[in-house]
Amino acid sequence: MITEQLEKQRDLTDGLLQRLMEGEEEEALFAAADRVRRENYGDAVYVRGLIEFTNHCRNDCYYCGIRRSNRSLSRYRLDRETILACCREGYGLGYRTFVLQGGEDPWYTDEILCDIVSQIHREHPDCAITLSLGERSRDSYQRLFEAGARRYLLRQEAADEKLYRMLHPSRMSCENRKRCLYALKGIGYQVGSGFMVGAPGQRWEHLIGDLRFLQQLQPDMIGIGPYLRHQDTPYRDQPNGSMQLTLRLIAILRLMFPGALIPSTTALGTIDPQGRELGLKAGANVVMPNLSPAAVREKYELYDNKICTGEESAQCRSCLEMRVFSAGYRIVTDIGDPKKYRASDRDL
Ligand code: 5AD
Ligand code: FES
Repeated sequence: MITEQLEKQRDLTDGLLQRLMEGEEEEALFAAADRVRRENYGDAVYVRGLIEFTNHCRNDCYYCGIRRSNRSLSRYRLDRETILACCREGYGLGYRTFVLQGGEDPWYTDEILCDIVSQIHREHPDCAITLSLGERSRDSYQRLFEAGARRYLLRQEAADEKLYRMLHPSRMSCENRKRCLYALKGIGYQVGSGFMVGAPGQRWEHLIGDLRFLQQLQPDMIGIGPYLRHQDTPYRDQPNGSMQLTLRLIAILRLMFPGALIPSTTALGTIDPQGRELGLKAGANVVMPNLSPAAVREKYELYDNKICTGEESAQCRSCLEMRVFSAGYRIVTDIGDPKKYRASDRDL
């Protein structure tokens, strides 16, 4: 059994990985992933309150709906007080992690961001502050860490140089992305990375390369979701990624990284009404309800038909709670740190 081997060794040859991705032993794969997830985390699902605080972006990624060249999008920025109000509301709803996510928006200088982060930290010292602001300098990451941020989400998107080129204009580079990820790790952040499944041009060997990159990086969090087209991007005619392949990859990731925090993403919930529940059953253990003010939600449209763009935060929270419960798990509101594996465990 390939699945058994992956569970024991936390690794496989490229050929065997591909067979699992193609759907061999699918049922056994999902069952093993759920078992390993329960061994490590029980039935807990951690919640992170997501605040999408700016949809301005200086980048022009070919797949992304908030890319700079998209002129049909109305742009917004949340000010300090609005962000703090979101956190206060979230705290009242039980959130103990806040994720500040935005496009790469130079309007938010280090000074402005550090002020916001340190104020959140002062008001909610029992909460984790996660940032997802794209590529910045090491110095900037360091200052934000000193202001109180402890986690950072930055997907590698594509570990393969050529595929990365296909997805991004030339002013971005795969090399710099990786440099950012290692800088964040070096500073002491818990780091999250990941990729899109079924991105235009992506083949099996790219996905295997992404898994190999994650093995080197050893991130604490791993976020993946299907690529979904957006009408105002150059890739508007490319087909969406596959939900089934995304689920298999979540299960593979759970077996390769038993202690990782793996979200069941909004993209998964968008491609299928049951997508997030299925993601949890395939080994994911995090959900990230939207805490942004309802008025700006539909402006943070990375892809068409993004879900959860209308509800209030409280509704979003209770809807997800029901979904998690119906999938057979339970929402946990503590800070939810990753389980650390000793090297000796990893080298079994
Ligand atoms: N489809 C799916 N995911 C996307 N992202 C950006 N655009 C899309 C899209 N069209 C993902 C990227 C990014 C994360 C915030 O959202 O992987 O890192
Ligand atoms: Fe947001 Fe359901 S999770 S409305």
